[in-house]
Amino acid sequence: MMANPLREGLTTRAVPQPCAIVIFGATGDLTHRKLIPALYNLAADGELPPGTTVVGFARRPKTDEEFREELKETTKKFSRQTVRDDIWSSFAAGLFYHQSDFEDESGYTSLARQLDDIDAKRGTRGNRLFYFAAAPEQFEPILKNLKAAGLNESKNGGWSRVIVEKPFGRDLASARELNGIVASSFSEEQTYRIDHFLGKETAQNILVLRFANAIFEPIWNSRYIDHVQITAAETLGVEARGGYYETAGALRDMVQNHMLQLLCLVAMEPPTDLRADSIRDEKLKVVRSLRRYDVEQVAQFVVRGQYTAGAINGTDVPGYRQEEKVDPNSTTETYVALRAIIDNWRWSEVPIYIRVGKRLPKSATEISVHFKRAPQVLFNRNNAELGQNVLVIRIQPDEGISLRTMAKIPGSSLRIEPVKMDFRYGTSFGKASPEAYERLLLDAMSGDATLFARRDEVEEAWAFIDTIENGWARGADPLTFYPAGTWGPEEADELLARDGRSWRRL
Ligand code: BG6
Repeated sequence: MMANPLREGLTTRAVPQPCAIVIFGATGDLTHRKLIPALYNLAADGELPPGTTVVGFARRPKTDEEFREELKETTKKFSRQTVRDDIWSSFAAGLFYHQSDFEDESGYTSLARQLDDIDAKRGTRGNRLFYFAAAPEQFEPILKNLKAAGLNESKNGGWSRVIVEKPFGRDLASARELNGIVASSFSEEQTYRIDHFLGKETAQNILVLRFANAIFEPIWNSRYIDHVQITAAETLGVEARGGYYETAGALRDMVQNHMLQLLCLVAMEPPTDLRADSIRDEKLKVVRSLRRYDVEQVAQFVVRGQYTAGAINGTDVPGYRQEEKVDPNSTTETYVALRAIIDNWRWSEVPIYIRVGKRLPKSATEISVHFKRAPQVLFNRNNAELGQNVLVIRIQPDEGISLRTMAKIPGSSLRIEPVKMDFRYGTSFGKASPEAYERLLLDAMSGDATLFARRDEVEEAWAFIDTIENGWARGADPLTFYPAGTWGPEEADELLARDGRSWRRL
């Protein structure tokens, strides 16, 4: 039975189908930390269609047995649930290793044979999901060889899809080129560009909050909203990823994708229905409406910082320039704060402040919607001390939503203080949310592209980011520094202070 790609209502979803998942870059970090633990957890929760098989495709020689052993060790470390031997052994029976160079054509013809064999033995029905967890330079030979081996086409009534990991280009030109390379082997319908933030439970809940409740939409506009803040703070540094990070920086690594995706969910118009393309059409319009910066505006509205040595939770940590595989004179930014404007009717002149940073004092990702103050009459006469109503969507940790309102402090005198109405996933639903990759892998197996980025969305996001990179390249906005364990450069505070505002304390 073909999956129905339409996500109907809130309770049903397309049925994921058993398939062979071929991971290119199977010995890498992503496979060990995220992909296999996600598949294991799906298996443990009974969500993985029986017969689902993983083929790890990589260069190093390795037996199936060695591959399984290594994956078991790392899954024990990174899995959300404890690894149970009985579940692992039936899951591991579907893990295989295929050794080949990415450039070697014969490796793909033997892969095709192996996949036919898996279809026959494990009932994967000709369904193939190719996961690109390799470096982007390797995409081209992999795609070419998949096509030459006929693996890009559906077979025996099955389907063939490709999941592409970031970085999806490093500017508009390279993203277009990469999209072109992918498109020469797989159609847009077969292509799933992953942005794991979209798989986070609370990110998905943004649309539910906005469009399954009648009370928010009427006030979700420039008449009532003063400004929005989107923060992704991490205590981690670049860890072992200095080589990659040097080519990216915080703007490309976090803002182009994750932050703009969150912004789209918060700012988009209601879609006409819940089809993947209806939702993505609306997100695209948001990115398209983002006001582009000229060089002078980059200097004015964007702050870039890099961490120096400092301490996180009492432990000394090195500065970015002292990290492994980082140039000792690097000017790569590990922190970005910016003020964006969406030029459309709903958001006219409402500032959207975005900040991301590594080695900040706390790890937290959240969106806060700050409403305008009450009129200056009654309790707010003389613009007293009344604060703003703030709706906070906590993406992680401690997923939930809170609303800050004003309340009278009990007692005979009239004193008003902000209080919080708080919804927490943990207490309301009593179970841990699945990991983003679990949801996204299942969606790709079901043919539901809603939570994946479309080609035009990605390119439009790069067009916006390019205006900032261009400003930086022309010397706007010199790099600033902040000690690890602090909330970023002072310039980021000044960015808001100039507007009479301040960052929310996390
Ligand atoms: C990744 C970035 O996409 O997202 C990392 O490359 C970052 O630099 C990570 O640390 C953050 O994701 P999460 O899910 O840990 O918040």
